[in-house]
Amino acid sequence: MSSGLEDVVAAETVLSDVDGEAGRLIIRGHPLEALAGHWTFEQTVHLLFGGFFDDLPDPERLAATLGQARVEAFDRARPLLPLLADLPVYDAMRTAIAPMPDGVTLDDALRLIAAPAVLIPALLRQSAGQDPIAPDPSCGHADDVVRMLGRDKGGAALDAYLVTVSDHGLNASTFAARVVASTQAGLTSAVLAGLGALKGPLHGGAPGPVIEMLDGIAAEGDAHAWIDRTLNHGDRLMGFGHRIYRVRDPRADALKAALHTLDRVGGRLEFAEQVERVALVALRQRKQSRVIETNVEFYTALLLEAVGFPKESFTGVFAMGRVAGWIAHAREQALTGRLIRPKSVYLEEGRARAA
Ligand code: SDX
Repeated sequence: MSSGLEDVVAAETVLSDVDGEAGRLIIRGHPLEALAGHWTFEQTVHLLFGGFFDDLPDPERLAATLGQARVEAFDRARPLLPLLADLPVYDAMRTAIAPMPDGVTLDDALRLIAAPAVLIPALLRQSAGQDPIAPDPSCGHADDVVRMLGRDKGGAALDAYLVTVSDHGLNASTFAARVVASTQAGLTSAVLAGLGALKGPLHGGAPGPVIEMLDGIAAEGDAHAWIDRTLNHGDRLMGFGHRIYRVRDPRADALKAALHTLDRVGGRLEFAEQVERVALVALRQRKQSRVIETNVEFYTALLLEAVGFPKESFTGVFAMGRVAGWIAHAREQALTGRLIRPKSVYLEEGRARAA
């Protein structure tokens, strides 16, 4: 029995390859470094969707259709916003997505990609007492998100981030989406499953606590003391470690490069790099049998903070990019026609649990 499904191969996929030993991420034949900062999120969506929607238009047409989908998402969201005001932004977004049509068409897919992009800025502005800003369908997707947030810069960095996190093999939330799609449920159901899994701090819920770690260390003024105390308490350092990568997550450096396109980073990046060095030494000293390196979430936190997102919205922004991967994997699984249904070992009363 493999309780974490470690090393269990549960699918064949054309979508992405995560090489944990080499520290390499390939998305539909393209190494991440060729995509992040070079391809737009819309072009990456087009890349991921190829072969899974018969009516997939060229990337330019797809971008225009996605822009229109943002307008429709905004019109659908407006009456709901006041009803969601008391919920945390991630739960509010998930609630607003739940009633969306549960189909498997390209229009359904683009509506699901547009939804988080429109909802997160609108919900954040509402919680700040500001009116939501309507989308501009002529804008690029990431630029429009930054615009709806009320910011004038950061689109290029956000675009690189959305591309970087768009797909990543059979991570927990993508696997959840595939399980739901394997029952022949629709894309909204698959995306809701992905949203549920992504929220956990061991997965997509990590970047917010990275900011809390940096702020805690800055307040104490001693990274060694803070990190030692945390690890001695048996807690984990958010932004470090990975089930697959045994070397540095290639996305960490892709996001660091995107950070340099922002002028609001300032000394925060140098400080974070210092903390990262102290954390890696402490982890190596304590976990000598295990390689624990920086993962995608450490620099995600700095990038999203610098673009202007509050830390409680980071997981929602992660979903803004990963929703493309969830949809592509859901379509890939549904087209196999195969239901995912593993076995379990029954523990009779009083029998010891397996290690
Ligand atoms: C994402 O799968 C994906 O692809 C995910 C993702 C994606 O794009 O979808 O890459 C996104 O989820 C990145 C990970 C974000 N999470 C965090 O940053 C949270 C902190 N990291 C972890 O909790 C942990 O590293 C996991 C959950 C990410 C992976 O853990 P594993 O593979 O299940 O390893 P494990 O929990 O069995 O840990 C092995 C040992 C343990 O020590 P011992 O009990 O053997 O003494 O390593 C230790 C762990 O305590 N360890 C850590 C640690 N990560 C592992 N100790 C301190 N800090 C950490 N961050």
